[in-house]
Amino acid sequence: MDDRERVQEAEAKGPPETDPRIAGEKHPLARMIGIGVFASLIGIGITLWIDWFPEQGATSANKIDTLYDVLLICSVPVFVLVMTIAIYSVVRFRAKPGDMGDGPPIHGNTRLEVIWVTIPFIMVTALAIYGWITLDDIEAKQPNEMVVNVTGQQFTWTFQYPSEKLDAKELVLPVDRPVEFRIKTKDVIHSFWVPQFRLKSDAVPGLTTKVRVTPDKEGDFEVVCTELCGLGHSTMRQFARVVPADEFDSWIADQKKAASGGATGGGGGGQASGPDAEQIFTSAGCSGCHTLAQAGATAKVGPDLGKLGDVDANFIRTSIVDPNADVTKGYKPNIMPQDFKDKLSKEELDALVKYLLEAQG
Ligand code: CUA
Repeated sequence: MDDRERVQEAEAKGPPETDPRIAGEKHPLARMIGIGVFASLIGIGITLWIDWFPEQGATSANKIDTLYDVLLICSVPVFVLVMTIAIYSVVRFRAKPGDMGDGPPIHGNTRLEVIWVTIPFIMVTALAIYGWITLDDIEAKQPNEMVVNVTGQQFTWTFQYPSEKLDAKELVLPVDRPVEFRIKTKDVIHSFWVPQFRLKSDAVPGLTTKVRVTPDKEGDFEVVCTELCGLGHSTMRQFARVVPADEFDSWIADQKKAASGGATGGGGGGQASGPDAEQIFTSAGCSGCHTLAQAGATAKVGPDLGKLGDVDANFIRTSIVDPNADVTKGYKPNIMPQDFKDKLSKEELDALVKYLLEAQG
C-alpha cells in the first residue's frame, strides 16, 4: 500500500471520533502541568540566581531590581508551560509512520480559551500597574534636589551645574543628595546610562529628557553611551564620581577657582589670556576621538594629535573646520563631525590651534 492509497483509505473512513494518537495517554494534562510546574521552579531558581545587575548605587536600584525579579517569576512559568505543552505534544502525540489520516475536527474549546485569555490579561495588567507605581515612585520630585545638565555629543559627555554656574568635564555627585539630570545632545541621539544607578535616558535632538536619581553609595561608576552614535560610540565613556558632601563642596570650589583663574588671568604666565584650550579640547569633544598626552586623552578613533609631525597652524585650523580637506593616511573621511566651525567661537578656535601646535614636541 502506497501513501496515496493510505490517504484514500483514511478519507473513506472519515475522521475518527477520538484521535487514536492520544487515546492511550492517561491524564496527559496532569502530566504536562506536573512537568511544567517542576521545570518552572527550576527556571525561576536559575533566573533569580543569575546576577543580572552590577552593585546598587542609588536609592531606586533596589526597587528596580525587585521589579525585575517579579517580572522573571511571572514570565518564566508562562514560557516554560507553553514550551512544555508544545514539546510534550510533539513527542508523545506525533503521527506513527504511515499514518496519513486526519485528526478529529476541533471547533474550539470555550473553557480553554477563557482561561488562556483571562490569566495573561490579569497578569499583564497587574504587572503594568506594579511597574507604573514603581516608576511613579522613583521619578517623584525630591526635596533639596540638585540639577545637573548633561550634554552628549560625538563622542563625549559634558556636565553643567546651573546652581553653581559651573561647566565641568567630569561628573561629580555628593552622596545621598537627590539629583535631577537634564539630558540634551548637540548632534545625534545618545543614551545616558549609569548601570549602578539603574537609570537610562536617551539624549534626543530638540528635547530635554529628565531622570532623577539619589546616589547612595560612594565610588566611581561608569557613564556609558548606549545608543550607537558613530564610530567613537564605544569610547563615549566617563565616570560618575560619588563623593561625601564636603568633598563635593571643595571640588566645586576648586573648579570655580580654576575657571575664574583662567578668565581674569591675574599675574599668570604667557598663556593666561583667552579661553582655556585644554578645557575646550575636552568640552568640544576632541578627547572623545583623539589621543593627546598632555590632555590625558587616549581615544583612538582619529589620529594622535600629539604626533602630527611637521605641521603648521594653517593645517591644524583647516583640519578642525574642514576635516575632509586632508585626511591622515590610514583614516577614513566623514568620521569627524564637520560642524566645529559653527560650534567653536573664533577665540576658542584660535586657542585650540595654538594649543595643538604647541603640543607637537
Ligand atoms: Cu554617544 Cu553612543
